[in-house]
Amino acid sequence: MKYLNISNTELKSSNIIMGNMRINELSLDGAEKLIRTAMDEGINFFDHADIYGSGECEEMFSTAIKMNSDIREKMILQSKCGINTKGNYYDLSKDYILNSVDGILSRLKTDYLDILLLHRPDTLVEPEEVAEAFSKLKESGKVKHFGVSNHNPAQIELLQKYTDEKLIINQLQFGAAHTNIVDSGIAVNMDINQSFDRDGSVLEYCRLKDITIQAWSPFQHGFFDGVFLGDMEKFPELNQTINELAEKYGVTSTAIATAWITRHPANIQVILGTTKPSRIIDACKGSDIPLTRQEWYKIYKAAGNMVP
Ligand SMILES: NC(=O)c1ccc[n+]([C@@H]2O[C@H](COP(=O)([O-])OP(=O)(O)OC[C@H]3O[C@@H](n4cnc5c(N)ncnc54)[C@H](OP(=O)(O)O)[C@@H]3O)[C@@H](O)[C@H]2O)c1
Repeated sequence: MKYLNISNTELKSSNIIMGNMRINELSLDGAEKLIRTAMDEGINFFDHADIYGSGECEEMFSTAIKMNSDIREKMILQSKCGINTKGNYYDLSKDYILNSVDGILSRLKTDYLDILLLHRPDTLVEPEEVAEAFSKLKESGKVKHFGVSNHNPAQIELLQKYTDEKLIINQLQFGAAHTNIVDSGIAVNMDINQSFDRDGSVLEYCRLKDITIQAWSPFQHGFFDGVFLGDMEKFPELNQTINELAEKYGVTSTAIATAWITRHPANIQVILGTTKPSRIIDACKGSDIPLTRQEWYKIYKAAGNMVP
């Protein structure tokens, strides 16, 4: 397992993260086995959100692992807030953030979060309020570090103008079948759709600012449209290329799909969403596979993208 120093902080994290969005599909025993497998494989970073299973996933996580201070100290715990699923709107107001964190801490049975992310941008955001909430959370010791998810560079700059807390994470969807954050950079100045910059060069911005990118839904295509791995009907060339490389490196296709992300020199972390211990073991083998430049671009092209 490869470990990274997250954005020049004291946090030393595995480059593979266990995501907990789906663990409420499991029994408590199943969830415990999944978490223990992740830890045995060297994963020390666990991603949550207050909305996963409407709080059930955070609760199950701490109950399944029988949270205590010994286990807590071995983990980097991150959660997110800002989506009000009951009313179907975004809320980054001070009170909403503060209340959400209290709920998260009580469900995870911990006194502090290592990192709190703002889950999605709220166009009604008042950054002064976010800054106040962050200060209170930091002063009280409830949150050590802060970051965002699904934010573009200008939205990050806006928040950063008001808060002294450095935003250290931006969680974005990224995988071999969802390549938005690299597309426009590869096809600069071309008269094709791929060169259209949807997200304000967010990859290059995060690298410039030492913001660690975390790739969510690494094996999905579209917005939860399904898993591309093994889908020979929609992604024949991509799967064939990945399978060939899996054979070459003596690993599974899951490891190669993971390695395609970890190979990027931006030190992107991969957030696994599987509920199967065996897939965690497979994916962790992709933590540090030295895919060549040619192999990396071959996968990119096999997914239907142009390398001009
Ligand atoms: N910031 C955000 O907006 C955001 C949004 C979504 C998710 N997230 C985070 O990202 C994490 C991962 O998201 P995700 O669960 O969508 O990621 P994912 O790992 O791409 O997808 C997991 C799903 O794919 C299936 N799967 C995984 N590997 C497979 C394979 N080799 N063959 C066939 N099926 C496979 C899993 O089934 P099995 O369980 O049967 O393996 C599971 O249903 C979440 O847990 C959450 O922490 C963040």
